[in-house]
Amino acid sequence: MTDIGVIGGAGYVGLVTGVGLAALGHRVIAQDIDQRRLEMLRRGNSAVYEEGLEPILRQLIDRDQISFTDDQIATIRNSEALFIAVGTPSLADGAADLAQVISVAEQLRDEIQQYTVVVVKSTVPVGTIDVVVDVLSQKLRVGEDFDVVSNPEFLREGSGLIDFFAPSRIIVGSTSVRALKVLREIYEPLLNGNVVVDVPWIHSGPEIPYVETDPTSAQLTKYAANAYLATRISFINEIAGISEKVGGNIGDIVYGLGLDPRIGPGYLKPGIGFGGPCLDKDLRALITLAGENSYDPVMFNGVLQRNKLQMREVMNKIVGALGPSLYQRRIALLGLAFKEGTNDVRHSLSIRLYRALRDQGASVVGHDLLAVDEAKELEPELEASTDVGAVLAGAEVVVALNSEQIYADIDWSAVGIGGTADRPPHVIDTRGILDTNALKSNGITFDILGSTG
Ligand SMILES: NC(=O)c1ccc[n+]([C@@H]2O[C@H](COP(=O)([O-])OP(=O)(O)OC[C@H]3O[C@@H](n4cnc5c(N)ncnc54)[C@H](O)[C@@H]3O)[C@@H](O)[C@H]2O)c1
Repeated sequence: MTDIGVIGGAGYVGLVTGVGLAALGHRVIAQDIDQRRLEMLRRGNSAVYEEGLEPILRQLIDRDQISFTDDQIATIRNSEALFIAVGTPSLADGAADLAQVISVAEQLRDEIQQYTVVVVKSTVPVGTIDVVVDVLSQKLRVGEDFDVVSNPEFLREGSGLIDFFAPSRIIVGSTSVRALKVLREIYEPLLNGNVVVDVPWIHSGPEIPYVETDPTSAQLTKYAANAYLATRISFINEIAGISEKVGGNIGDIVYGLGLDPRIGPGYLKPGIGFGGPCLDKDLRALITLAGENSYDPVMFNGVLQRNKLQMREVMNKIVGALGPSLYQRRIALLGLAFKEGTNDVRHSLSIRLYRALRDQGASVVGHDLLAVDEAKELEPELEASTDVGAVLAGAEVVVALNSEQIYADIDWSAVGIGGTADRPPHVIDTRGILDTNALKSNGITFDILGSTG
């Protein structure tokens, strides 16, 4: 059992990390500056949505396995290992903003009193581990008072805990044998499938790959993973664009493509593009890192460029349906979070689309199962509801933006010909999720991104 502090412990990554490590039997202090999130967490409620999180969290709180605090000094002094999971947003030039990480490092420099392993979970560009070592070295001795380890996070929001307990891999980067040993001890229960509370998805398959490497490779592996996922999305969006021009059916193309074992089906659905808190930000940071090192990342610039154009594809379809003036036209957006299964609206392209439509005078209404409050917090004027029927009522255009199963199950008879609506809406399906037979049989016209009818 290790005493572990998680700095940024109320965020998406910090909370999953804290809960996961506590479930492995470690004693975790999750520290954060967000009082609202901390207050909720102490009551066993999470402000960030993660499947299955709250029941595990409550078991851990009852067992005193995890606690939540805003006291950073006490957290630092009472921990043998400190996981840093604060934000690393984009600066205007695309580089990662390391202000939160550096501010935490300065606090560690002043408060560490015993040998502590500092584990950087936040996604940070190559070189950041050296920056953290430099800050700490102003007062402390590396190797004696502290070591710094890179341990990038690969979770998918919404299924973060599943990814913690059954990870595709664990990557740990350090030049310190002592620190690597501490990390392996921390993850040992997970590698052996041992947890102290009831966890439905504890890994039971083949061994979890545990990769020990140098900090540079660990950090670059994370950026490479996100750049690759972004590339797949821009790739399939570009194929969808070509398919639409030449009369293809993107659903069949995606299926046929994904059957190739060298390619696989994941991250191959067309859509409005990649938004959210990671892919865009991390791709930009990688492009900046390449530029700083005199390398021209032509392919990644293309990936970003395709992503920017994707919003225009969707706007063109809306204008195609309604004509050039969107003034007071009623448009329904299905899906406000940056993807299905999460309440995270940070850098959601649905919100960006809402802003573009609102700025043209359109009357926009949004639907989401999990993110209505978060969307309204970001955009107080946005009309939004969890009731899909209410959102569809009176809409002239409906745009499906997320692959939520309830969108596939919509009963279109209420808004189609013969239904209660004055006129059926035109439907734009960016994700290939809707039931086209039901649309057709109810006399509803539609566009599918990447297909012709
Ligand atoms: N969200 C994801 O899906 C995901 C996946 C992998 C990696 N990451 C990376 O993990 C990092 C965190 O992302 P997130 O999505 O969890 O962000 P988040 O905003 O949800 O969490 C960050 C938390 O840090 C807290 N914080 C900020 N400054 C602090 C300080 N000085 N002391 C204590 N707490 C502080 C914030 O209050 C917040 O709760 C980022 O680098 C991100 O790129 C995110």
